[in-house]
Amino acid sequence: MAEKMSGAPVIGRHQYLEDAGGQKIQGQPAASKPEPAPEPGPAEYRLIGRATPRIDGRKIVTGQAKYTQDVKLDGLLVGRILRSPHACAEVISIDLSQAASLSGVLAALPLAEGKVRYAGEQVAAVAATDEKTAETAIGLIKVDYKVLPAVVDWEKAKEPGAPQVRDGKPNVEKFNEAARGDIEKGFQDADILLERTYRTNFEIHHPTETHSSVACWDGDQLVVYDSTQAVHRVRDGLAEALKIPAARVTVIKNYMGGGFGSKLGLNEHTVVAARLAKAAGRPVKVVLSRRENSLCVGYRPSSFQTYKGGVRKDGRLTALSLVNYASGGIDFGDDVSEPAAELYACPHFKAEEFSIFTNTGASRATRAPGHTQGMFGLESFMDELAAAVGMDPLEFRRKNYSFKSKGNTGLPYSTKGLDKCYEAGARAIGWERRNKTPGEGSGNVRRGIGMASSLWYVFGARGTLADVVLYPDMSVEVICGTQDLGTGTRTHMAVVLAETLGLEPGDIAVKIGNSDYPWAPGSGGSTTTPSVAPAVRDAGLKALARLKQVAARKLEAKLEDIVMDRRQFTVKGAAGKSVAFADAYKELRRETVFHGENPGFPQDQYAFNTFGAHFAEVEVDLDSGKVRVVKYVAAHDSGQILNRQTAESQVIGAVTQGLSAGLFEERVLDSTTGHVVNANLRDYKIATSLDIPDITTIFVDVTDPRLNNLGAKGLGEPPRIPSSVAIANAVYNAIGVHVREIPMTPKRVLEALRRKEAGS
Ligand code: MOS
Repeated sequence: MAEKMSGAPVIGRHQYLEDAGGQKIQGQPAASKPEPAPEPGPAEYRLIGRATPRIDGRKIVTGQAKYTQDVKLDGLLVGRILRSPHACAEVISIDLSQAASLSGVLAALPLAEGKVRYAGEQVAAVAATDEKTAETAIGLIKVDYKVLPAVVDWEKAKEPGAPQVRDGKPNVEKFNEAARGDIEKGFQDADILLERTYRTNFEIHHPTETHSSVACWDGDQLVVYDSTQAVHRVRDGLAEALKIPAARVTVIKNYMGGGFGSKLGLNEHTVVAARLAKAAGRPVKVVLSRRENSLCVGYRPSSFQTYKGGVRKDGRLTALSLVNYASGGIDFGDDVSEPAAELYACPHFKAEEFSIFTNTGASRATRAPGHTQGMFGLESFMDELAAAVGMDPLEFRRKNYSFKSKGNTGLPYSTKGLDKCYEAGARAIGWERRNKTPGEGSGNVRRGIGMASSLWYVFGARGTLADVVLYPDMSVEVICGTQDLGTGTRTHMAVVLAETLGLEPGDIAVKIGNSDYPWAPGSGGSTTTPSVAPAVRDAGLKALARLKQVAARKLEAKLEDIVMDRRQFTVKGAAGKSVAFADAYKELRRETVFHGENPGFPQDQYAFNTFGAHFAEVEVDLDSGKVRVVKYVAAHDSGQILNRQTAESQVIGAVTQGLSAGLFEERVLDSTTGHVVNANLRDYKIATSLDIPDITTIFVDVTDPRLNNLGAKGLGEPPRIPSSVAIANAVYNAIGVHVREIPMTPKRVLEALRRKEAGS
């Protein structure tokens, strides 16, 4: 687990594991043989699984939805943060006197103690009556730095004699190793051996809405409006950082414009807002600029993955080894080895991973951390192995895909959805149209089709709570301390409860985004739906059971004969006998709140996962090196889909993000100063609507009742995982040479073409 480097109360990248009450399964087969999986089929629902428009869609598109940046409070001040211009320096002194005495400045605080370790680290902060005054005050702060040697480039940081980033610790540290079988024997068993290196670069989250926090004290009670993925964790983090009881902190998040991991926990500027507000005696709003968004709230760490694999002539994998160098600045990089460890049934496996520390901001969990980088390496390599053994890449995967158990645990998979994804996706893209020989054809624009697999965990957080409240006028409310990242959480909660109580989604009032509400996990790791929806279902079923009891008594019928039918209860086989929902409700008197809980699933018996297969068709211009994606198919097994409309939105968004990372996105640092030189959305390239192809989304509809009371899994991250590499493999099919690094900029594509000409 990554340790904290900057002294900031920033969370580790896999903290959602903790929230989910679980841990990554590490090769411990179940003690007793678990039940064989029932063949799951689609359940019969009236609303669940259909396309339901967002219940708050109108509010969002008409600008009525309130985001943190929209919060207005009496006497609200503007908070600004001064950041280090040096990649490494000793802060000798901070003189705030001039800034503090400027008219309109109500608070000025030093933030840095001792060393700053990256350009962009916080040094001091001010709160003022308006933006201009705050800016001016920042300019009046005098900091005396002793500049120290720094290393910014990870390849240089690896070299002996490089400036040491961490006190008393080397720049290179092994942080993961895993093995099964005997890798050397696996290499000996192979007919063909291949070794390849793949590289992924630094991708910044760049949510539409930059980070922001508004802090407001009422005596010793703190209320913070925060653009966050985790209201409860921010509450607990603030309590710890400010040394106040958590019971005196409330964190509110109404609407937000994305986070992708960069808002999955307490951020430094949120603590700053609270401290400034305390010092000024007035509420303070801190909104990070797009530039700050590029400096200090994380990014996806890079990877440099060398795979060595052995295959037999028949296409069976005998050995797979991986050495990865990951760079996450002053923090650890991501573990990328899980796809290689888990996806294919390869008897001999070995992985070693090293983090390389540099004087750059800390990396942060980024939509499917580790798996995204790892899948780029693994699925590129699988394509190269398939070519080496002369097999169709899809057939090669089918041959090696482990249908029976999770690669290293012996635990059975929850569903067998990957084969269905392969089949449905291949049909939809027209897999048979691809070049039989990669790069075949003529002309300066070549077409190709490629594919890749997806694998991600399922976290259903044990102990997630939801309350259903029934009102005398028959209206219904559901309350849960979860949050909507923009994924449609309110709508799926309404769908599940409406389904359960025989109502319509619009009938349900949904209250979320407040740490005073019943506990739910942080929204990371694709946990929200499989955590929250079962709790809502549970509460709804409890309310329904109670209402049915009352109806049975009133109708003098047996409980099992009571049928709920749109706001009334009837008796099976007794036409005309009915009692209205409202009349049953009145009998409940003050018993109006029903508590639902997600019990979690038996992690020691089953290795639940989500699966997917993506297929891309591309055009590559051989003269310019430009890649255009022309068609895309994403097939997913994410269990029971709750709302097809928002589920499709998730897939389309993730494919777009993967396309963007695969072709355009890369943080560029000045290798001397450590400054981010493309700290804006003009120079940091993100895909635009013109780059986005026709995207077909397929859900293969496999549900597993052992998972939870809905068979629901998550979908936020799974479609992000294979999207860059499906495109890379399509590029290979088009031009006959692999581009082994993302983003696949025109320069890198042309370099690959030259490598092909040179025959290497
Ligand atoms: Mo995500 S990277 O689990 O917020």
